[in-house]
Amino acid sequence: MMVTGAAGMIGSHLIDRLLRDGHTVHGLDIVPLDQANNLREARGSPNFHYTQGDIRDKATIERYFRPEASTLYHLASVVGVRHYMEDPLSLIDIAIIGTRNFIGLCEKHNVRILFTSTSEVYGRNPAVPWKESDDRVLGATSVDRWSYSTSKALIEHMLFGVYRKSGMPMSIVRFFNVYGPRQNPIYVVSQSIYRALRNEAPELYDGGRQTRCFTYVGDVIDGVVRAATDARAVGEIFNLGNPTEVAIGDVVRLCVEHSATGVTPIAVRSEQKYGAVYEDIERRVPDVSKAHERLGWRATTSVSDGIALTVKWARDNPWYLSP
Ligand SMILES: NC(=O)c1ccc[n+]([C@@H]2O[C@H](COP(=O)([O-])OP(=O)(O)OC[C@H]3O[C@@H](n4cnc5c(N)ncnc54)[C@H](O)[C@@H]3O)[C@@H](O)[C@H]2O)c1
Repeated sequence: MMVTGAAGMIGSHLIDRLLRDGHTVHGLDIVPLDQANNLREARGSPNFHYTQGDIRDKATIERYFRPEASTLYHLASVVGVRHYMEDPLSLIDIAIIGTRNFIGLCEKHNVRILFTSTSEVYGRNPAVPWKESDDRVLGATSVDRWSYSTSKALIEHMLFGVYRKSGMPMSIVRFFNVYGPRQNPIYVVSQSIYRALRNEAPELYDGGRQTRCFTYVGDVIDGVVRAATDARAVGEIFNLGNPTEVAIGDVVRLCVEHSATGVTPIAVRSEQKYGAVYEDIERRVPDVSKAHERLGWRATTSVSDGIALTVKWARDNPWYLSP
């Protein structure tokens, strides 16, 4: 098995799962292995092999690629609003050039691709819940936040194109606000837990009224593996999300409660942080009936339980809470 984005939150959990299932796993990430804290468990396994490199570099990809592997889980991506608002050009280069290189190799060697897309693909379509076949409703190209959505959607087009042309097996999953242990503390759940456990006030954006469908990473890994291995998933897209909507303010309060440190969130306006051209999406809700019917998958971890598991993990791993 090959996993790109190996050092990231979802990639590292996926690698641990694949190793537990008895697979040999080849990970790739731009992060040097000795700095990849998320791979602390995997590093000890004789079945884990790692390549450090940038997926934009064709020579790196060719050195890394294993033609005998059954599956490429392609997760490497720039992630996080702040990053793609800062440098949309790099985001697009990494997404498009990197993925194009992999598609060529997978097509040549008939390796199945599992691609991790995003709920951002739907943009601000107001008609929630979203089915996989629903429209994309996006803002102007002068608004940088849409670069992430567009680059992921373009990769989906590339994958459908090659699947229809040559039959290269591929499946796509669209995640909805995944959180859990090991997440970089720049997202609402991870940042609130990180700050609360360090006795710092979590930030509460725009009154916390927007809702999200927060999905625990353990649930997502199970869905990813099903989508990558089930024959009925070939040539298909699946929403992988917990359909229960929760207000962001409630999530921040749950993080504070489970951390039991008594800090009080501070109010922040997203305009202050990202500038006036930032366009937020009020609601993002998945219709997960397709994943349920075809893959037998559904998210089973409540937000409160998932936050409790994440807080416990952070307490048990002090390296995560260091500055
Ligand atoms: N976490 C979520 O809520 C969420 C939602 C929708 C989609 N996704 C997708 O899931 C995947 C994994 O996300 P995550 O939450 O684990 O994010 P993450 O940031 O923890 O992991 C992404 C990894 O990609 C690596 N990477 C970035 N650029 C690279 C490059 N040029 N070459 C090699 N490696 C590179 C990073 O170093 C990082 O380790 C991504 O494709 C992301 O777009 C995540």
